Amino acid sequence: MKDTYILGIESSCDETSVSIVKNGCKEIATVVLSQMDVHANYGGVVPEIASRMHVENITIVIEECLNKANMKMEEIDAIAVTYGPGLIGCLLVGVSAATTLSYIYNKPLIPVHHIAGHIYANNLVNKMKFPLIALVVSGGHTDLIYMKEDYSFKKIGGTLDDAVGECYDKVARVIDLPYPGGPLVDKLSYEGSDTYNLPLPLDDDSFNFSFSGIKSSIINLVHNEEQRGNEIRKKDIACSFQNRVVEILTKKTIKALKEYKVNNLIIAGGVSANSGIRNKFIELCNKEGINLTIPNIKYCTDNAAMIAAAGYFAYKKGITADITLKAEAITSLF
Ligand code: KG4
Ligand code: ZN
Repeated sequence: MKDTYILGIESSCDETSVSIVKNGCKEIATVVLSQMDVHANYGGVVPEIASRMHVENITIVIEECLNKANMKMEEIDAIAVTYGPGLIGCLLVGVSAATTLSYIYNKPLIPVHHIAGHIYANNLVNKMKFPLIALVVSGGHTDLIYMKEDYSFKKIGGTLDDAVGECYDKVARVIDLPYPGGPLVDKLSYEGSDTYNLPLPLDDDSFNFSFSGIKSSIINLVHNEEQRGNEIRKKDIACSFQNRVVEILTKKTIKALKEYKVNNLIIAGGVSANSGIRNKFIELCNKEGINLTIPNIKYCTDNAAMIAAAGYFAYKKGITADITLKAEAITSLF
């Protein structure tokens, strides 16, 4: 069978990325240009700056990726692009680049939902086996998803308020860590002890999550300690917080696997880079005989390889768009 080369474009937040992936599973070349250092000066992503930087970088990143792959646009079979969700000005840059390339080179255009992309980062590690449960943990999403087959997504639970990555970043800010704080809280947690009596968030029978309560209780305890002039044990806060997050994520995910009688688990999204989450899931899945896949660290956060991989399976399902494709800041996968 002829190989299919998909060129993927991702620009939904602060990474300008282009990648070429063969048959939805073999990465040929990827370029990721991160703007993180610029936004760190402001304590978070500044949408206007982010979209302007995407405009400056997108053509350079496309050319660099083709050069790295030693390929020409003529050899590409189709173009996949994140059309949403994300920052609208940022998405527009990727969608404009993709629609233009599709028009000029007469290539099919494949719209990819950002979360489908995160999920398919796993297909670059191991061929995904179905049925599976996907735990998506990112800066904007926390979802438990049932997949009967390729490119079929059924939500079985999700956060009722903050996404887990958002919560990591807010807790980091309260204990004076710079943006993006998630990886720093993760690191700091190993230097502390679980001594703060934080609540286990939404510990019920549902497959839903809630992280705003645990965030508020950390904000309150920091304020109270400050008012009393007490020392704030940041390392212990990081450790106690991470333990609670890992406990609730593992508890609900393992319950979902059992209830849906599924033996395959994948984890996706930026927070799947978290070492506490990775280690605990590896330990539990070994014990329970569950087949677990987690993306390599560099494909946990935003990149275009995951978009090109997802694009291949969307294309096989006949999901294509024309050059009127619109970027959508808010759009559901379900
Ligand atoms: O997937 P992503 O790029 O964003 C969305 O698509 O929404 O994930 C970014 C999020 C940020 O909140 C960041 O703090 C978090 O992932 N993150 C982590 C770690 N690495 C990245 N959170 C906890 N521990 C980590 N090691
Ligand atoms: Zn993402």
